[in-house]
Amino acid sequence: MIEIKKVNKTYDSGEEKLHVLKDVTFTVEEGEFVGIMGESGSGKSTLMNIIGFMDNKFEGEYFFEDKLIKNESDDSLSHIRNESVGFVFQNFNLIDNYTVRENIELPLLYAGLSPKKTREVVLKALESVGIPEKIDKYPTQLSGGQKQRVAIARAIVHKPKFILADEPTGALDSVTSKEIMDIFKKLNTENKTTVVMVTHDRTLSTYCTKILFMVDGNLEERFDL
Ligand SMILES: Nc1ncnc2c1ncn2[C@@H]1O[C@H](COP(=O)(O)OP(=O)(O)OP(=O)(O)O)[C@@H](O)[C@H]1O
Ligand SMILES: [Mg+2]
Repeated sequence: MIEIKKVNKTYDSGEEKLHVLKDVTFTVEEGEFVGIMGESGSGKSTLMNIIGFMDNKFEGEYFFEDKLIKNESDDSLSHIRNESVGFVFQNFNLIDNYTVRENIELPLLYAGLSPKKTREVVLKALESVGIPEKIDKYPTQLSGGQKQRVAIARAIVHKPKFILADEPTGALDSVTSKEIMDIFKKLNTENKTTVVMVTHDRTLSTYCTKILFMVDGNLEERFDL
């Protein structure tokens, strides 16, 4: 599904050039749960931005479902992004003055569903993360773990082709982290949702079909943790 071939990314800030991704090559097949690890500053989020169609400016090739993603206009890139990816971030990225329902509805704005159907699919997404009773609350009325559940519901509500999660448990305690990881695991095993996740959590090895390490801009697959 995702095929990254010899991708190079350099950040240019005036005199300085920072070569962050060096000939990065890997694939993600449908239904996989891929973990990406590596030290702070090693380029994990940079890579996620490319995979998630947020960043179009890199060298090398990105084939998504056999289509070469290159020289896409911003419009075309956001269209591909909207229908293909669900994002989950460390800091939840919920809109505080929107209710839980309104937050989860966001990816559906262009889907043209009736209000009744919209409410149905929002509720279904909330049920799959275990907190349907929170539908009319505001994010400030929720715990960190509940906020991340809402963020996951928002990420899956439009049935994206894959989920990108960048340190989704980074702001949570270890018990809550495990609950959140179990939700990703359930989505992956029961719904066959493809997951690509950046994490520092070494217990991830039990969930992953593949673990990739960023070391000095190079991506290596490892089997020992
Ligand atoms: N927009 C940017 N402009 C210039 N340099 C950047 C930009 N974004 C990231 N960098 C640099 O690129 C390198 C990789 O950053 P990136 O955010 O991908 O690392 P990371 O592996 O996600 O780190 P962390 O674990 O801390 O989140 C860092 O040295 C960072 O300072
Ligand atoms: Mg990062």
